[in-house]
Amino acid sequence: MVDALSNWQPKRCVVVGASGGIGAGFVEHLLARDSVEQVYGFARSSTVSAESDRFTTGRLDYADVGSIKAAADRVKQDGPVDLVIVATGLLHAEDGFGPEKSMRQLDPEALSRAYLVNAIGPIMVAKHFLPLLTKDRKSVFAALSARVGSISDNRIGGWYGYRAAKAGLNQMLRTASIEHQRRWPHSVIIGLHPGTVDTGLSKPFQRNVADGKLFTAQHSTGQMLNVIDRVTEADSGNIFAYDGSQVPA
Ligand SMILES: NC(=O)c1ccc[n+]([C@@H]2O[C@H](COP(=O)([O-])OP(=O)(O)OC[C@H]3O[C@@H](n4cnc5c(N)ncnc54)[C@H](OP(=O)(O)O)[C@@H]3O)[C@@H](O)[C@H]2O)c1
Repeated sequence: MVDALSNWQPKRCVVVGASGGIGAGFVEHLLARDSVEQVYGFARSSTVSAESDRFTTGRLDYADVGSIKAAADRVKQDGPVDLVIVATGLLHAEDGFGPEKSMRQLDPEALSRAYLVNAIGPIMVAKHFLPLLTKDRKSVFAALSARVGSISDNRIGGWYGYRAAKAGLNQMLRTASIEHQRRWPHSVIIGLHPGTVDTGLSKPFQRNVADGKLFTAQHSTGQMLNVIDRVTEADSGNIFAYDGSQVPA
């Protein structure tokens, strides 16, 4: 990644998962930039809002694949976009779904659910939104991954479904980056690791986080936007942490 500050300024941006802690952080940062003309925020159910006439909202639920295409069709009506951020993800849910501590807890339905939200959903967003990216200059598609998706970095085990789904997402992003760059040579497709961020997703797992290492969504998304601003087409297909370092596969 280049060290120089980038002068790339995305004008039309999409955030999928705008109802989440990290998704909402991205929306806030983007709307705070005068150079941003329009932000589309898509969410599964809860209504997302922002007091700005530059913010358009819509529904997108991975359980309803038609809603992904419908969301892309809506954005397409207004023209190409410079930046798509996918900030959806699932680690635990109120119905008892959660990361496995041991093999004894492996359950095919739970594994499929982790895979649907963390890998299949985001790559279906790529399928429908990558064709909307601007072609003649830099454009970015960034999906929230996680360091635990790194196979070489896995030293403590556990969390089978979430880890495997994020590893699968990383592989699909790399594959998409190769295919997409053939026709969109300036496109950059990356995965992002946000650090440990104080959101609903990390709430039950914050006890062992070292002092100063639990970030606010505001801080983490600001850092990740710096990464998005600086990446170049040579970085496409890779996973980057909030501080710009590359996460190994
Ligand atoms: N927080 C962390 O410490 C941390 C660390 C590493 C990686 N990450 C990654 O960062 C991303 C964002 O996480 P977060 O912390 O912001 O979590 P969050 O606050 O729980 O947000 C998750 C988002 O995913 C959406 N979502 C869940 N199931 C969905 C479905 N079936 N269809 C469409 N959208 C769905 C949620 O929508 P609803 O509002 O409708 O539920 C919400 O917008 C995730 O990919 C996560 O794995 C987070």
